[in-house]
Order: sequence, then structure tokens, then C-alpha cells
Amino acid sequence: MDVLFSTTFCLLIITGGFAADMSLTLVRNAQDTGAVCLDGSPPGYYYRKGSTDPNKWIIHMEGGGYCNDEKDCVKRSFTDLGSSKKWSSTKELSGFLSDDCTENPHFCGWSVAFIPYCDGGIYSGNVLHPVKVDIIYTIYFRGIRILDTVIGALLTAGVNNAEHVILTGCSAGGLSTYLHVDRIRGLLPNNIPMHALADAGYFLDAPNVQGDYAIREAGQYVFKMQNVSGGLNQACVTAYSKTNEDWKCIFPQYSYQYIKSPIFSFNSAYDTWQLANILQLGCLPPKCSEEQMKQFENYGQEFKAAVSPVIQSPTNGAFIDSCVIHCQSLSTTSWTQFKVDNQTVGDTFYAWMTGNTAMYKSKVVDCAYPCNPTCSKTAISPDEVV
Ligand SMILES: *[C@@H]1O[C@H](CO)[C@@H](O)[C@H](O)[C@H]1NC(C)=O
Ligand SMILES: *[C@@H]1O[C@H](CO)[C@@H](O)[C@H](O)[C@H]1NC(C)=O
Repeated sequence: MDVLFSTTFCLLIITGGFAADMSLTLVRNAQDTGAVCLDGSPPGYYYRKGSTDPNKWIIHMEGGGYCNDEKDCVKRSFTDLGSSKKWSSTKELSGFLSDDCTENPHFCGWSVAFIPYCDGGIYSGNVLHPVKVDIIYTIYFRGIRILDTVIGALLTAGVNNAEHVILTGCSAGGLSTYLHVDRIRGLLPNNIPMHALADAGYFLDAPNVQGDYAIREAGQYVFKMQNVSGGLNQACVTAYSKTNEDWKCIFPQYSYQYIKSPIFSFNSAYDTWQLANILQLGCLPPKCSEEQMKQFENYGQEFKAAVSPVIQSPTNGAFIDSCVIHCQSLSTTSWTQFKVDNQTVGDTFYAWMTGNTAMYKSKVVDCAYPCNPTCSKTAISPDEVV
């Protein structure tokens, strides 16, 4: 009896007590097709087999900004965001990617593939030749080849026979979800249902506090440097090429209307990365002056106006909250506790994906800051979450 009890107890611990780690696979033959990280090392993915639904897959593209210019990309090529050489062999994930069913009731049993970000250019670049910088450095701009190759490896690893696929990512990975969802849809067998959740990827083409479009200039530089045009949504590129404005396709407010696949937008109207890098506000509440708070509030309104294609879409879903944060799907707190109209983002996304909106709406938009009592009391800076 005792023996039986302790054996059962041990099994429980082994199978259910610990969160399973994700383990790394490098896609070594990627180097044959030039699908390489900034430093020339191979890309890869972390994988955890789903406990109850191994044939349902969440594919997450990691975020981490972008590199501004060639020198900045050289610097990045010596970090985990530009090289696979020092990637850890395992990874633990929370929120939407957690296998803990208390934290992540709808998706805890799904298989998860996590694609580390190492191209510095929103998984979009495609410069044919290695790029020489300062004579002694050689780097590669191959984001879109990485994406094609890693998705190809995942197809072989089981996605080919998936019952359902969710494509997701936050920050640069969230933007990548908007930019590449149709391309990835095209790489998957037609009969597999696929949905997308873009977290904190709706970066605005908007002026900073001085009235300059700094983010637009930065985006245009990366667009040229990494030769991204061929990697973007081609319907968008065709439309904007007529006026020589195909760079606009890197901004969701312009490219969203060309997306054909079902996509769900998860974003704060007061995204801390946007406040710091697009608006360049220089503070986060409660440490802002009255003048800065006005700019902050205006940005929230500007965001809601720019996200109107999402709000007006008859088929797509959204959770636009007013919590001051960046990247909410990978944080336990924002995934489980932040609510809009008394529903979490998980409830909202699940209602949208399944079409079962009896209990929960598939699209919610929050009231203006600081109306939402479920948000964290203090703003969460972008470096704490990405
Ligand atoms: C830019 O990308 C396109 C494919 O999208 C390719 O045909 C062209 O050769 C690339 N240009 C350079 C300079 O690598
Ligand atoms: C919010 O939802 C919970 C169930 O998730 C319910 O018990 C509660 O009554 C709801 N509150 C309001 C104000 O609707």
C-alpha cells in the first residue's frame, strides 16, 4: 500500500508536477541555403511536445527590436539576438506558452515551437551577399530565409500533420506575425486551420514629441539595408510600390488591410516600447509631468485611431487594453489577470478562434488610461518583459 502510494506519488511529480522545459534544435542545413543569423551561425527552434494535444501547435517568433544600421548589427551579431552560438539548450516559458493549466487553461496541452530571433530585421531581410562592415566584420541579412527554413524544419518535425496551428510572437515577433502570416499560411498544408495572435506588434508610424517621424526614418533605413521588400506582404508591396512607398508595408496600420489570414491583435494603446521609442516620451507614469501626461494621453488616442482597421474588421479579433506595458502574452500577470470588459485576453482570443462568443466577445477595446483596475499599478518598462 505504502509502496503503491509512493510510486503513484512519484509518477505524479514526474508527469504533472514540473513544467517541462523546451529543448533546442539547431537547423544546421540552413547554412546550405544561406538562412543564417547575423553572424553566419545556424537558426533553430525550441520545442516542447504537447501533453494533451501534441498535434496542435503554437509557433512563436521571438522579439527583440531590430538593429538600426550596419555597425549596430555587427554589435548584435555577438549577442543571442544575432548568433546561435551561445543559445541555452533549454528554455522555460510562461503565459500563452506555459504548460501549466492554471495559468494557461486553453492552450497548456498544445505543442510549442519557439523560434529565437537572430536576424535583426523582423524576420524579413534578404541580402544576397555577405555584408562587409569596417573591413574586418562580415554579417548576413537573411531573416526571411530563416523563417522559411525554420518553418520547413517544423513541417518535417510534425506541423505537416497538425490539427491546428497558431502563429504568434511579441514585439518584433508580433510585428512579424502581421508581416508574415500570409506567407507562413502558404507554407502549411491548406487543410490545417491556422490562426494568428500578434502581441505588441502594432507599431505606429507616428511622430515623436518633437513632431519628427523618427521611427519612419529608422524603418526606412532598415528596409533598404536589409532588402526586406521581397519578404513582406506582396499585396501590400504591389499597392504601395505605385507611389514608391513600399516601406509603408512594415507598418501594420498600412499593411493590415492586405492580410488575408485570420489574425488577432493584442496590444496596449500605451505600449511602453512605443512610448519610449516612437513617441520618445522620456518618462512612464507616474513619473511624468503634466505636459508629458498630455502627450501620453494623446498617444493612446492616436493608437486607437491607427488601429481602426482592426476594430472595423468584421472577421478578426482584438484585445486592446490600456495597461502600460509591452509584450503581454508571455507574462503570467498580464496573461491571467489583466481584463477588459471582465474577460482576459485568453478568453477573448479563444472565443474568437473557436467562434464561440456566447460567453465572451471576440474583440474588446479598453477605456482610456488609467481606467482599468486590473492592470498592474506601475508601468512595466519594455526591458523587463521582452
Ligand atoms: C533583394 O531581394 C530580392 C528578392 O526579394 C532579390 O531578387 C535581390 O537580388 C536582392 N538584392 C540584393 C542586393 O541582395
Ligand atoms: C466577471 O466574470 C466573472 C466570471 O469570470 C463573474 O463571476 C463576475 O460576476 C463578472 N463580473 C461582472 C461585473 O460582470
